[in-house]
Amino acid sequence: MAKLKVLEHPNPILKKKAQRVEKVDDEVRKLLDDMLETMYDGGVGLAAPQVGVSKRIIVVDAFQPEGGGQGEPMYFVNPEIIWNSEEKILFCEGCLSIPGQSAEVERFEKIKIRYQDYDGKEKELLAEDFLAIVLQHEIDHLDGILYIDRISRLKRNMLLKKLEKARKEESAE
Ligand code: NI
Repeated sequence: MAKLKVLEHPNPILKKKAQRVEKVDDEVRKLLDDMLETMYDGGVGLAAPQVGVSKRIIVVDAFQPEGGGQGEPMYFVNPEIIWNSEEKILFCEGCLSIPGQSAEVERFEKIKIRYQDYDGKEKELLAEDFLAIVLQHEIDHLDGILYIDRISRLKRNMLLKKLEKARKEESAE
């Protein structure tokens, strides 16, 4: 496994719609492994476009123990939401591609997704609460949508200003 470089906003790859994966082969599995290792550096989910690969692939671990380590690593190829609850919930989200920032985003409380697993097997999963939030965030990445696209323009502008300021301070150090 190898750790990959995470692209940051405003890299144009993050805004592109990712391509479907035709076949879950060893190349895809290697990417899944590398993405998982990359994700564990401070994330609960990671989408392939974030590592510069415009394919419909995500990894998630929404059950990491406090203090680090693996919880329940999950792999999703070609995930699509096939059902969502009426109920929505608000949660404060962050993203490895927008480091150090966060904002409250509204998501469906429950979703059902269809996807292919690590072995290319077709599966369905009913997810709720935190797992459902993480999955919606990551599936958005596959359509070129960042969580900051789902907040008000005013909040987005404030957040991007803070991001820019933090980057300037970092490069001055
Ligand atoms: Ni993200």
